[in-house]
Amino acid sequence: MNSGAIPPTAPPLSARAPGKCILFGEHSVVHGRPELLLAIDLYTQVAVRVASESRLNGDARAAADHPYLTAALRRMWPPGRPPLDWTTVSRVPRSAGLGSSAAFCAATATALLAASGGGERSILADASFAIERSAQGVGSPGDTSAAVAGGLISLNGGSGAPLWELGDGAQNWVVRRVRDPGWVWLVVYSGIPRNTAETVRAVGRRLAEPDGPALLERFAEVAHAGIAAVEHEDRAEVGRRLSENHLLLRDAGVSHLKLEALIEAVAPAVDGAKLTGAGAGGSIVALPKLGHEVEAQRRAQRAGGVAFIVRPSPTGAHLVEVPA
Ligand code: PMV
Repeated sequence: MNSGAIPPTAPPLSARAPGKCILFGEHSVVHGRPELLLAIDLYTQVAVRVASESRLNGDARAAADHPYLTAALRRMWPPGRPPLDWTTVSRVPRSAGLGSSAAFCAATATALLAASGGGERSILADASFAIERSAQGVGSPGDTSAAVAGGLISLNGGSGAPLWELGDGAQNWVVRRVRDPGWVWLVVYSGIPRNTAETVRAVGRRLAEPDGPALLERFAEVAHAGIAAVEHEDRAEVGRRLSENHLLLRDAGVSHLKLEALIEAVAPAVDGAKLTGAGAGGSIVALPKLGHEVEAQRRAQRAGGVAFIVRPSPTGAHLVEVPA
């Protein structure tokens, strides 16, 4: 697992970071409850060089308008430093609940940290969260922490070693390593894009209803049980808890007909499935039955989904050697 510091490196340089899917606890994590995330082996990579003007994929206007890039430069590249020319490639679908913005923030922060003399991974976790948060306005450090740490991580739950602690003044999140049980997962993008910030605010309103606090505590119970089941490598229990978490997300109002159809389509070939990420579109995650991974993928594709069989990314955000 890539847990080391980011070494000082002069540009030109390249950095990459994984996308993620959430196994338990999305939305309730924003309110300080536990979450379990899996950094997936689909990556966003950025290459950066010093140039006469700022550009993003050859476009000066795009560099000036990009909310995450401008937030990253504001935080990590003080005025007076030379303009930078950025090129990006990504295998993480955008607005799909698979962490494309967190991967971009973590890869960009890794490049800027390296170009500024390097630093500890906890600095990277802090910076990546601050960048995503300042551009998005709401949310937890789950996605960016997964992109920085790689593998499986928990927030405010689990029994693994603490990696770092982050807060936003209202909530505090302790991020821990969770041991990878070595399973293969299926993520399926519905093709329906959605907006994380809007969905987080809608769930906030749902949780302010009279039965909201009870719903929030159900989310916490299911996430604690799901994290423990992963730690005990209990597939059947993980599958049950995934499906139970999905019902709570449905109750919170963030499912979608297309997500329900995908979950139904993969059901015969999986131990459990749920929507993953903010919902209201986006993606599902499922734990395929052993030996039925490709069948689950085919079922999802026949139902119109874009399906990826994924494993946990063995590394978090890191610099990439680019052949000269
Ligand atoms: O942007 P998404 O779809 O990956 O969702 C992030 C998960 C939320 O819990 C809904 C928000 C957050 O920041 O934790």
